[in-house]
Amino acid sequence: MSWFRDNIEELEPYVPGFQPKESGFIKLNTNENPYPPSPRVMQVIREISPDSPRLYPDPRSDRLRDKIASTYGFQRENVIVGNGSDELLAIALRCFAGEGDRVVFPAPSYSLFEVLTRIQGAEVVEIPLNNDFSLPEAFFSARGVIKLLASPNSPTGTVYPKETVRRLTEESEGIVVADEAYVDFADDNCLSLVKEYPNLLVTRTFSKSFGLAGLRIGYAFAQGNIIAGMMKVKDSYNLNALSADAAMAALEDMSYFREKVALIKSERASLKKELEALEFFVLPSGANFLFCRPPEGTAEVIYRALLDRKILIRYFDTPRLRDYLRISIGAREEMVTLINSLKEIIK
Ligand SMILES: Cc1ncc(COP(=O)(O)O)c(C=O)c1O
Repeated sequence: MSWFRDNIEELEPYVPGFQPKESGFIKLNTNENPYPPSPRVMQVIREISPDSPRLYPDPRSDRLRDKIASTYGFQRENVIVGNGSDELLAIALRCFAGEGDRVVFPAPSYSLFEVLTRIQGAEVVEIPLNNDFSLPEAFFSARGVIKLLASPNSPTGTVYPKETVRRLTEESEGIVVADEAYVDFADDNCLSLVKEYPNLLVTRTFSKSFGLAGLRIGYAFAQGNIIAGMMKVKDSYNLNALSADAAMAALEDMSYFREKVALIKSERASLKKELEALEFFVLPSGANFLFCRPPEGTAEVIYRALLDRKILIRYFDTPRLRDYLRISIGAREEMVTLINSLKEIIK
């Protein structure tokens, strides 16, 4: 006998990438930023006032919402913040998907989408991506209360252009959620569409491009009535005071942000070339990782051999993905060690 709702009893939980307890690993498995946060962020953390932990934070995070809005050309009423973009995705599902409703997303994509859908007791409608991981027509025509699209997608790194999201939003009667967690590493995004379409929600994060994964800060943009509804559903104090101050400081140092994003993009280009020289097939990526297929079904062997050398990358043991590897972009020295190890392993 179980007290849980059936869908929770049967739920396969989200499995986060492995976080080793010991040090000494080169971590290229969870798409963290290899560089430290801006010195301004570190200063805010060092100089925290005793009132910051003592008092409740602003329940609406208005200062940060204003800062995000002005940085990206919106109003406060168009912005919601939360405990990572994961929380904003969860709030969206709680707002828009009830028991039995259809929630549509491509496969493969971010595996949290399925978990959040099942928690709602909603129906999972997974639409397989084409062989080249482009969107099939069936994704546009599928009916559902929400369509979730990660762009750049994970684990593939594929960017779905703004005009594709426009078409999707126009052809969908429900809400379209564009999960842009990795978009700062891409050359295209759909943020401006929020002003045109009442059914579009765009989620973003400080975890990747700003290097603040541990502080859990996500943000999202939509038209005022969508944000107002989501604000009703969120926990009262869903962003802690220190994280809000750290995010403000990060946004005040956009030149540091741009410098690190440019470095990661240039390391991505170098790694792609090096992998191709080793005869890997490498998908174009707009994210801070590369999705690639090593020669002759060697993905799992390579994953394990790298693990033995304390280099962590991501291997997905599913029928469609088991020939592929996902490798986060690290700092120069990490990339050199990775490539040298790959050369040894392949030899
Ligand atoms: C596609 C995608 N969306 C959202 C997230 C969640 O990011 P956050 O740290 O903001 O919760 C991730 C994290 O890996 C991701 O891969």
